Amino acid sequence: MPQADGMPQPPKGMSKWNGLRIGITGVRGSLGQAMARRFQEAGAEVIGLTHGTPPCHPEGPIKDWVNWSCGQEQQLKPSLCNLNILVLNHGINPQGDQSIDALDKALEVNALSTWRLLQICEQLAKNGIGPREVWINTSEAEIQPAVSPGYEVSKRLIGQLVSIRGAVRSERERSQLTLRKLVLGPFRSTLNPIGIMNADFVAGQILFQAGLGARLIVVTPNPLTFLLMPLSELGRRLYSRGLNRRDP
Ligand SMILES: NC(=O)c1ccc[n+]([C@@H]2O[C@H](COP(=O)([O-])OP(=O)(O)OC[C@H]3O[C@@H](n4cnc5c(N)ncnc54)[C@H](OP(=O)(O)O)[C@@H]3O)[C@@H](O)[C@H]2O)c1
Repeated sequence: MPQADGMPQPPKGMSKWNGLRIGITGVRGSLGQAMARRFQEAGAEVIGLTHGTPPCHPEGPIKDWVNWSCGQEQQLKPSLCNLNILVLNHGINPQGDQSIDALDKALEVNALSTWRLLQICEQLAKNGIGPREVWINTSEAEIQPAVSPGYEVSKRLIGQLVSIRGAVRSERERSQLTLRKLVLGPFRSTLNPIGIMNADFVAGQILFQAGLGARLIVVTPNPLTFLLMPLSELGRRLYSRGLNRRDP
């Protein structure tokens, strides 16, 4: 039987994620792998969306692999149709590189490809197909310095776009597709080799908070983010709603 949010109901005593098909972008990265393991342990099927070459044989917690690349999001449509949840997790960090090429790439990978995938999911949801939830991994760089100007501007852009969609969608659109924003502090990975937290802890916290129904999921050792992020979301929401003009 489906739950109120339209997702299949797991058998009694099973985890909320049991039996769901979860697509994860950036799946070969540290957090992608950690989330894939956590979901698999919870009984979900993980579909790995990778921009690299998928392995020839099933590998680790990933049941199926799909290859994709930024700019070709439309080609993912058939694969998205079979998902219950899509986690948009891919990302790059240009560090101090502020050349036009580096900024272009950061905007394309971190913000614009995620934005396009989100739009595809919104269109699918209107037709009652595709994921019922999209989780968007931004970063506390949305509101805090991250010692990487290109990273900050790209994460702020996607963060604000997600806030706007969260604010201005109609009740109907909201019931068709749930958006959850993941705001994470520093954890160790290729993208951030000196992160304080480890990816497995972060993944565990994400699933825990999402399981409680949180739309804004914050995992960080920085207490300021717990205070500033909800305030920033509230401010953006009021601002967007206040100025929102619906077409007649
Ligand atoms: N580490 C941190 O401190 C931190 C803090 C806050 C937020 N985050 C966010 O968490 C997410 C995961 O980061 P991570 O730390 O786990 O980094 P990571 O280990 O470097 O993983 C990032 C993954 O993104 C995918 N990717 C890289 N370049 C891409 C491209 N050009 N096109 C499409 N996909 C590409 C790759 O996965 P595939 O090869 O499978 O495509 C890569 O493994 C990112 O969005 C990052 O911004 C990280």
